[in-house]
Amino acid sequence: MEKLPANSFCVLSCVLVLFLSSVSAVTDDPQDKQVYIVYMGSLPSGLEYRPMSHHMSILQEITGESSIEGRLVRSYKRSFNGFAARLSEPERQRIAEMEGVVSVFRSKKLQIQTTASWDFMGLKEGNKTKRNPAVESDTIIGVFDTGIWPESESFSDKGFGPPPKKWKGVCSGGKNFTCNNKLIGARDYEGEGARDVDGHGSHTSSIAAGNAVAGASFFGIGNGTARGGVPAARIAAYKICDSTGCKTDAILSAFDDAIADGVDIISISIGGVAIRYEEDTTAIGAFHAMAKGILTVNSAGNDGPKPTSVGSVAPWMLTVGASTTNREFLTKVVLQNGKALSGRSVNAFDLKRKNYPLVYERSKVKGEILVSRETVSSETAVATIIEDEINVAIVSARPLSALSPDDFNFLVSYVNSTKSTQGTVLKTEAVFNQEAPKIASFSSRGPNTIAVDLLKPDITAPGVEILAAFSPLGSPSEDEVLDPRHVKYSVISGTSMSCPHVAGVAAYIKTFHLDWSPAAIQSAIMTTAWSMKASDTGVASTDFAYGAGHVDPIAALNPGLVYDLDKADHVTFLCGLNYTSEALKLISGEAVTCTGNTLPRNLNYPSMSAKLSETNSSFTITFNRTVTNVGTPNSTYISKIILNHGSKLSVKVSPSVLAMKTVKEKQSFTVTVSGSSIDPQLPSSASLIWSDGTHKVRSPIVVYTDVAND
Ligand SMILES: *[C@@H]1O[C@H](CO)[C@@H](O)[C@H](O)[C@H]1NC(C)=O
Ligand SMILES: *[C@@H]1O[C@H](CO)[C@@H](O)[C@H](O)[C@H]1NC(C)=O
Ligand SMILES: *[C@@H]1O[C@H](CO)[C@@H](O)[C@H](O)[C@H]1NC(C)=O
Ligand SMILES: *[C@@H]1O[C@H](CO)[C@@H](O)[C@H](O)[C@H]1NC(C)=O
Ligand SMILES: *[C@@H]1O[C@H](CO)[C@@H](O)[C@H](O)[C@H]1NC(C)=O
Ligand SMILES: *[C@@H]1O[C@H](CO)[C@@H](O)[C@H](O)[C@H]1NC(C)=O
Ligand SMILES: *[C@@H]1O[C@H](CO)[C@@H](O)[C@H](O)[C@H]1NC(C)=O
Ligand SMILES: *[C@@H]1O[C@H](CO)[C@@H](O)[C@H](O)[C@H]1NC(C)=O
Repeated sequence: MEKLPANSFCVLSCVLVLFLSSVSAVTDDPQDKQVYIVYMGSLPSGLEYRPMSHHMSILQEITGESSIEGRLVRSYKRSFNGFAARLSEPERQRIAEMEGVVSVFRSKKLQIQTTASWDFMGLKEGNKTKRNPAVESDTIIGVFDTGIWPESESFSDKGFGPPPKKWKGVCSGGKNFTCNNKLIGARDYEGEGARDVDGHGSHTSSIAAGNAVAGASFFGIGNGTARGGVPAARIAAYKICDSTGCKTDAILSAFDDAIADGVDIISISIGGVAIRYEEDTTAIGAFHAMAKGILTVNSAGNDGPKPTSVGSVAPWMLTVGASTTNREFLTKVVLQNGKALSGRSVNAFDLKRKNYPLVYERSKVKGEILVSRETVSSETAVATIIEDEINVAIVSARPLSALSPDDFNFLVSYVNSTKSTQGTVLKTEAVFNQEAPKIASFSSRGPNTIAVDLLKPDITAPGVEILAAFSPLGSPSEDEVLDPRHVKYSVISGTSMSCPHVAGVAAYIKTFHLDWSPAAIQSAIMTTAWSMKASDTGVASTDFAYGAGHVDPIAALNPGLVYDLDKADHVTFLCGLNYTSEALKLISGEAVTCTGNTLPRNLNYPSMSAKLSETNSSFTITFNRTVTNVGTPNSTYISKIILNHGSKLSVKVSPSVLAMKTVKEKQSFTVTVSGSSIDPQLPSSASLIWSDGTHKVRSPIVVYTDVAND
């Protein structure tokens, strides 16, 4: 789950370590064997192929056992081919060598990484925004997460007609779980029902497609109308995570089902470190979704600001970073002398402005306010004041404020130097943040380590301090011991939250352009994004933080030109990454001949990026691109290059003018980038803008070399 844990940064990863170390013993009991995913590419077409019996016969052949009970964990058979099974290491090796097998890899656990945010992006409430209600109501978003709370007002079906005719899914959320005409489907891969006991899945689902619910707040904090990007759309919940994480074999099952069930957009706020595509279950599932016209939107990860931390790296998914909105939550610390310090937290507790003694790092605290670098929250203190390390307001289990390092140090020396200092912590208030949007420090950054010439993340969207639906069974502060509160709406931050914002935007675009491919929707979102300034992230990582910029839903409806791609283009890209024709034939289900001279950077992607192997020599790099006119006939686009601050690139576009006579017309051009050297500290970047006077079609161009690890 790609949200920030509320009380500790280690809780989830510690569980993961324990999980891995407790299953290392190898015995004959199949339950003790590792679960491996056997990926077999596309389903063979035409023939009367029976995937499940094929999977079982492979297992029988490999194990030599007639009964393979307990071995087969899952069969992928509706949208692509493969299975998950308990195997020994020698068995794994033998299967990997079998014909028809693309890859065999261990299943593992990945982590999941209001309202005001849609107004901030310009998608206003009610009839202030252009909508296509009939089509929106036929749009289905599949959310892969911790399940959903069906009784939430955000998922009420008041005013909804029956599910769209194309819907082929089911409601199998377990006991006491009912779907409705808003929440039209649910599946559970954990055996504990699709009910969300965490809160994360309800949160992401409502950000993408929740109803407009007035008066939603966290104990009054952030009070307003909570709503999703496409409030009239339907939701299908695929529960793939429990409290310990999200199993990759379950993720693949959810893709297998969601594609066949008929969802339009998949939102998956889950990730880990970047791995090769043939072992990355999100990339595998998203590839088959793309082949069926379904766009997958994925969170970039919360491992920033470290370079190369982005975990979502395939071009057939839209990868989303997280940034701030113009609303932020502040929790003031007021000293007895009247001085106020602005801290961060989501503190719903009201001390009624009563002053209490402030004490610094004392082990026994009672009836006092603890000022501490170490303790996150003390049970016996009236309140705790800590040093802020992440610059994000997190729901606290007890009264708490996190001060900036400067303010914290000021407070420590004040407490140390003054006898019997007193102060208080106020309830959190929402304030206007005029610096927004700014990338969140935690948002994972490029460069992409798997395809070094493909810029990732693609885009940024609101992912900081988002108020949305929650599960009343979850703990808003993730501290069940100290915090017995149960809420219907809560505040969470993470790329988990920015991902469903973009899934909502993608669905919104689709309601106006039903015939657009996933790549066309992705291109529209990227080329119309707000351009972000270099100073927003620190010089070295601007493009690797924001990608194309900040999502602009209204502009994305009418991009003018799109960089389109189909399955064959992605296969050619994989040829360029040296995947073999045999593997690509299995993956794509079609004959493939790699010609041997394709370069990954010539993929018709809406951004352009190239990694140079040498730092100090002069270079010339060419990108080939083709745009499709989706604007007006007889429009003439003129190219313009804007060099980013400090960039020493020379960029030429040929031809520099494109005259589009008809809609759907395609025209190709090349972008040639040259320079004398690249500074490792300063990737050289520019923007290409095609403009016909009405539309601005902007692509980032980034040339870099090994980025210093800062
Ligand atoms: C928008 O909705 C408001 C209130 O529902 C209504 O009064 C107004 O006429 C509507 N405007 C348009 C342009 O439909
Ligand atoms: C079913 O779930 C609802 C919502 O949590 C709860 O109020 C109700 O008691 C549950 N019923 C049963 C039989 O568990
Ligand atoms: C939220 O705002 C509405 C409208 O201003 C108000 O009626 C309601 O009491 C507020 N809720 C809370 C919990 O403050
Ligand atoms: C507190 O003050 C004492 C002496 O005035 C000093 O030695 C100590 O380092 C101070 N501690 C902090 C945390 O500032
Ligand atoms: C693919 O193989 C060619 C030839 O061996 C090599 O030059 C190229 O760097 C490889 N590309 C990648 C992405 O590994
Ligand atoms: C690159 O060139 C500069 C200036 O010519 C020189 O100072 C630097 O040492 C060179 N760096 C490398 C890695 O060769
Ligand atoms: C790129 O475009 C140029 C000019 O149209 C063309 O000569 C070249 O063959 C293209 N390269 C690739 C790899 O398609
Ligand atoms: C585009 O231009 C051509 C030639 O000038 C003209 O015949 C055609 O009607 C124009 N199309 C539109 C839609 O304006």
